[in-house]
Amino acid sequence: MTDHRPPVITIDGPSGSGKSTLGRALALRYGLQFVDTGLLYRGLTVAVIQHGLTAADAPSIAELARSAHIELNTDPGKAPGSWDLRINGWDPHGEERNPAHARLLSEVSAIPAVRTALLAVQRAFGIAGCVAVGRDCGMVIFPDACAKIYLEASDAIRRHRRASQFEEQGTAVDASLLSREITERDRLDAPRTFRDPDACVINTDLNDIEEMIRLAVQYCEDMGCAVPSDATHPRHEERV
Ligand code: DC
Repeated sequence: MTDHRPPVITIDGPSGSGKSTLGRALALRYGLQFVDTGLLYRGLTVAVIQHGLTAADAPSIAELARSAHIELNTDPGKAPGSWDLRINGWDPHGEERNPAHARLLSEVSAIPAVRTALLAVQRAFGIAGCVAVGRDCGMVIFPDACAKIYLEASDAIRRHRRASQFEEQGTAVDASLLSREITERDRLDAPRTFRDPDACVINTDLNDIEEMIRLAVQYCEDMGCAVPSDATHPRHEERV
């Protein structure tokens, strides 16, 4: 029997592996929402700081995850690194990308009750179809996704890409702080970064952006990700 649900495409992999670049490209190509799941954890982490909480306050952080109102618009047509994020109506003005919060960010995302709270939110995006990028999108959030991609890249390339991202956004960042952030987050996020055994693995060191997109599109088409012709990019607004 044919599945007429709007497709969900998942892209997982470590920080700096090219997930957002590919995710935006596929979302635009297929007329799907682009859901950067890391931004939900980032928004929540800024809210944690705003509330004066620390990683030791896991029950309060979990309560915040259940009650905070986070609005997120990651329209793929917007410039890279440009999104609308509001936490209880407050705009963090890029604070969610501050590498100084790396440790707390990983600690917040490691709290099981936080992950449970965000699971339902992330799945809600899937109802209209989406390209979801993160760490556990294929294995945990959308196990029935139409297509699952896992990106890998060397440490050197990932560091270079992260630095370029900040440059493109016009944000000054200390290179050694950024490098430490990546090492720290790799270590802390490893237990929650899953490569689904069914995923199509693309090494982004070996392929430039156009080739990465070409390989991913070929794979999505092989998997039969049919996209409804009236697909749009709705605003993402979720209570988390
Ligand atoms: O992809 P990113 O670097 O913006 O992710 C920010 C943090 O959120 C990162 O420390 C890992 C965590 N994260 C997660 O645990 N699960 C996801 N699906 C997405 C991100």
